[in-house]
Formats: sequence, structure tokens, C-alpha cells
Amino acid sequence: MAERLVYINGDYYPEAEAKISVFDSAVMLGDCVTESTRTFNHVPFRLRDHIERLYKSMKVCRFDCGLSPDEMECLTLEVIERNLPAYEGMDLWIVHNISRGAYPPTGDQSTKRTPTIIIHTAPMDLRYWAPFYVIGCHAVTPPSRMVPAQSLDAKIKNRSRMAYTLAELECKLVDPMAQGILLDLDGCLTENKGGNFFLVQEGVLKTPRTLNALNGITRQTTLEIARNLGIPTLETDLQPYDVYTADEAFFTSTPYCIMPATRFNGLPVGEGVVGPVTRRLLQGWSDLVGLDIVQQALQQLPADQREELLSCAP
Ligand SMILES: Cc1ncc(COP(=O)(O)O)c(C=O)c1O
Repeated sequence: MAERLVYINGDYYPEAEAKISVFDSAVMLGDCVTESTRTFNHVPFRLRDHIERLYKSMKVCRFDCGLSPDEMECLTLEVIERNLPAYEGMDLWIVHNISRGAYPPTGDQSTKRTPTIIIHTAPMDLRYWAPFYVIGCHAVTPPSRMVPAQSLDAKIKNRSRMAYTLAELECKLVDPMAQGILLDLDGCLTENKGGNFFLVQEGVLKTPRTLNALNGITRQTTLEIARNLGIPTLETDLQPYDVYTADEAFFTSTPYCIMPATRFNGLPVGEGVVGPVTRRLLQGWSDLVGLDIVQQALQQLPADQREELLSCAP
């Protein structure tokens, strides 16, 4: 297999040699914006939307990486192109991390810095999520609450991930395979460390507003697919009660698109199986991207695990 190459500020490095300063603001402060895009059959999905969100994040964080969005798009396509030989038969992530840059270890933080632009790729390894397409995951609300938008707006896609990490660890105490769904300070559902949340109530697809959640590209795409399929949608405040009494629920995120959730805090969601609206939306996703997203994930599992999983599917 060919070697993966990482782009850092104008140069390409083999992955093992890609390094940044220990004084980089990403390391020192988690002061770094980010995007993760994936390919389907090696074609990047909604790359321009990811880049536009990246530039909005940078603007709100008050720094400029020195490249225009068009230049960033061209550069990203070049990074993909250079890395494709390392991804025979495998889709990939394209990850942008852009920090305010390294600064000397003095108290004076006003020193002019050169932003650090890192673009790397990684294999689209879906094995962790694959079983959830068949049996659904267990969604759990952690005791920790979402950082309120008044402190850090979740619409800024950034690398300061301590709050999400601690919340996820709390969920894993309940169930090692649990997927967190954080509540805000008012007890409304928000999102988790890497995905948005949806539920289906009496045929209506509902998702929290983006008051305290990232406006995920997968979230937007799922709403578009639903509208095209004639499924009514609603962006609204939702509480745990709505999930306990919902017919179906799922998470959305770039790698897995839709991850069904069949249990919520120990109770079954609806019948406790992957429901018909979720299945239609999964099919809608597969039709949109031109590959069967469920099969792609299941094919990555060892054959015996895949067979066992499919045999216990309801
Ligand atoms: C905090 C958070 N919420 C939601 C999402 C889902 O966003 P997208 O659908 O654009 O991948 C992500 C993606 O990484 C995320 O980090």
C-alpha cells in the first residue's frame, strides 16, 4: 500500500513524519477549528459545504488562515489526489485542522502567529458502527450538560473537546457501547461528541434546533432526503420524554450517515428495533451517494461476526 501524506503549511510529509510545534495553539489551548469530510467511492461528499463551515468557524474565532475558500478547496482536492494510491478499495476521511498557530512561551499572547494548516486523511473504518445499522445503539444522557452557546457556540466546529469527552466517558459507565446524547442546561436534547440526533414521532422526523448543536452536514442532508421522500420534518426543542415515547431514533454524522438508536437510557425506543422511517432514510442515503452504506460497513466486519449479527437481527 502506498504511504499516506499529510499536508502542513505548504509541504507534504509521510504521516509518521508529520509534526507540529509543542507551542501550537491547538496543543496549548485546543484553539483550533476543524472539519471532517468523507468520500463515497473516492468522491468527496459536500466538500464545499464543509469548507464554507470551516471558514465560518475561523471568522467567529477571529483568525484567517491566509488561503481563500477556493484555494482551500483546490488544495483539499490535491491532498485527496495524492493520497488515493493509499486507499485502494477503501473510502477515506479528509480532516482539516487549522489552529491560530505556534507562539513563543512568553506571557505575551499578542505575538503575531502564522496559522497552522493541517490536512490529513484516514481510512473510512466503519467497523465500530457497523453493528448499529442492524441492532441499533443505546443512546444515553450523561449527567454533564452541554456547554451553553453563550460560552462556546457548538456551531463553531472546534477541537476543544473536553466537555464532549467527559460526557462520553460518563455514558460508558452506564454501557460500554453507549452513545451519548447531551442535554442542555434546560434539559433539551442537543448532540453528542460527533453527531446530531433525530427521532420519529407519529411519522414526523424531528431534530433539535441548532441553538446548542452543530448544524451537521449529515443533519442537513438527512432533512433534505426526508423532504424529498415526503416525510414531514420539524426542527424543535425535544426532551428525554420525547425519546422515551418516540417510535424511532437515530444519530447522524459524516462517517456513518445514520446510526439507528433502539434503546434510550435502558428503555426500548418504539419496538426496540430499527424502524421503517430510519430504513427509508438509510436507503435514501445509499441512493444519494451511489453505494449501499449499510453493506459498505457490514463488509468491513469479519465474515463470522457479520453472519452472527445478521442472524440475531429482528
Ligand atoms: C460536535 C459535533 N456534532 C455534530 C457533528 C456531525 O456533523 P457532520 O454531519 O457535519 O459530520 C459533528 C461531526 O464531527 C460534531 O463534531
